Amino acid sequence: MTATTDLVATADQLVATGQATIEGAGTLTELEDAERALLGKSSALNEIREAIKTVEPADRAAVGKSLAAARNALEDAVATRRAALSADARAASLVHDRIDLTTGGRGYRRGHLHPVTRVWRELEDVFVGLGYKVAEGPEVETDWYNFEALNFPPGHPARAMQDTLYVKLGRPEEVLLRTHTSPVQVRVMEAQRPPIYSVMPGRAFRRDTLDARHSPVFHQIEGLAVDRGITLGDLLGTIEAFIHALFGPDINARFLPSFFPFTEPSAEFAMTCVFCEGKGCTVCSGTGWVELGGCGMVDPNVFKAVNIDPEEYTGFAFGFGIDRLVQLLYGVDHIKNLWDGDVRFAEQF
Ligand code: DAH
Repeated sequence: MTATTDLVATADQLVATGQATIEGAGTLTELEDAERALLGKSSALNEIREAIKTVEPADRAAVGKSLAAARNALEDAVATRRAALSADARAASLVHDRIDLTTGGRGYRRGHLHPVTRVWRELEDVFVGLGYKVAEGPEVETDWYNFEALNFPPGHPARAMQDTLYVKLGRPEEVLLRTHTSPVQVRVMEAQRPPIYSVMPGRAFRRDTLDARHSPVFHQIEGLAVDRGITLGDLLGTIEAFIHALFGPDINARFLPSFFPFTEPSAEFAMTCVFCEGKGCTVCSGTGWVELGGCGMVDPNVFKAVNIDPEEYTGFAFGFGIDRLVQLLYGVDHIKNLWDGDVRFAEQF
């Protein structure tokens, strides 16, 4: 038989050493290890519990009592230590994981409109200020709108000047990427009756070889005024008004006779070179003028194609390249710079 006093003494001893181990645990993991060693299945405490069987039945209660007290003391010590370690860990994480909300972020860089978009919108604003509406049409067109209704009959030599990109749709050469914004004139006149005052900006496409001033994809803005009593004087005055609105009173417009199937008479128009103010420089090849686009009085055949009576109404039209204008305004030497998609270029404006 084991002596009761021995077991009780061992239990007390275990409490003393156990408490020291528990208090010495530096981390929660160390504490868990200590807990398992002191209170687990293969702990010394458990061995005492097993040994109860070997004492006098009368003394077993006393041993059991001291065993329970020892267990309670150790469990309390573990709980106290665990609370302390958890508090430490929380305090440490408050320091380590702290986010300083006062430093501010890296921020977003603010972008801006592409120069072509900006000039496109400025042009719209100028014409809206003159009482015009803005209209748009499709980029993929039929031969009817791009050519035929504009008085380019099949086989007309003026068609050959526009290096057309055809689309495999419908009859051969029936569907194409519009070569100019002029087809939108036809669509506007089909959709509404005069008086019409509209500008039609958009993208156009030609099978052009890329060079400093030509790109297979480019932008134009078209203008159309149809009313009773519209004259060539109105056309010239309107073009001059928009050039003055964009560039100021010192930049003028010049008109030279030309030919377009959809206008009669037709003219090309140029403006004073903004770089030399008309004195002559390399940009304007020494002429003092830079070409902008074409214009003229709407041909009666175009009116007939859209059922407007040319005896009752007259009108003028004009069209010019937006990219060209941007090149002039911002001094962009090669048109491809506008469309390379290189932010280093776009950021300069
Ligand atoms: N569509 C012509 C072109 O791209 C430009 C043009 C000329 C438009 C005369 C017009 C116009 O409206 O009247 O070459």
